[in-house]
Amino acid sequence: MTKREQRLHALTQAIIAYLEAHSDAVDGVDNVLKTLSHMKLTGTQPRDTRPRATRHDAVLQCALDNMTSPALQGISHSLNAARNDLVWREDEAQFYPPGADLGDGYRQCNLHALLVGPDAAAFHHADFCLGVFMLGPRTLYRDHRHAAPELYLNLSARSGWRFDTRAWQDYPAGSLIWNPSNAPHATRVYDEPFLSVFAWLNDISTPCQVIPRDDWAEIELALANA
Ligand SMILES: [Fe+2]
Repeated sequence: MTKREQRLHALTQAIIAYLEAHSDAVDGVDNVLKTLSHMKLTGTQPRDTRPRATRHDAVLQCALDNMTSPALQGISHSLNAARNDLVWREDEAQFYPPGADLGDGYRQCNLHALLVGPDAAAFHHADFCLGVFMLGPRTLYRDHRHAAPELYLNLSARSGWRFDTRAWQDYPAGSLIWNPSNAPHATRVYDEPFLSVFAWLNDISTPCQVIPRDDWAEIELALANA
């Protein structure tokens, strides 16, 4: 393996090790691990090997620097090491139908990088994704749903989540969240950027759908003024 392959492999293995140690935390962890266990996680995709700057590199660095939870040390170490081996991309609403009302916060600052997926930096899979996802500070990622069942591993110290119409709840670093297929969810990011590992189990090509709620303006104003 090249050094680059070793770093991407180490990050993937650190994520798997964390999920294995927390397989009872939420539904879905077992299924994600099962898919990964059936994959040949050796070698890496030859393309996309050049590190590329994004307009959010400073925010990403801040999010990485904020990963201080001892439980996440393995992921933090390997993610910092592999940061420039990953291909960071902005979602310019390409996962949504045209005109989706995602709001300015999401559009202004989001990044993701795939370790496993159809066009991933590391390992190929046609209908499964494993990657890292970042949102800028004071962002409401508005309520949405998608066919793909989704697992989040929160890497940042505090993030707010709303599932369907239930009350908002804060989640700490190391927490896991399982969104079953088409289950509505929203995320709010406070004054530090949001960083997570995410997995989409299947149906990854089906477009996401924004679900209108009447409190978005109020939440976005509160985040902006916090
Ligand atoms: Fe989602």
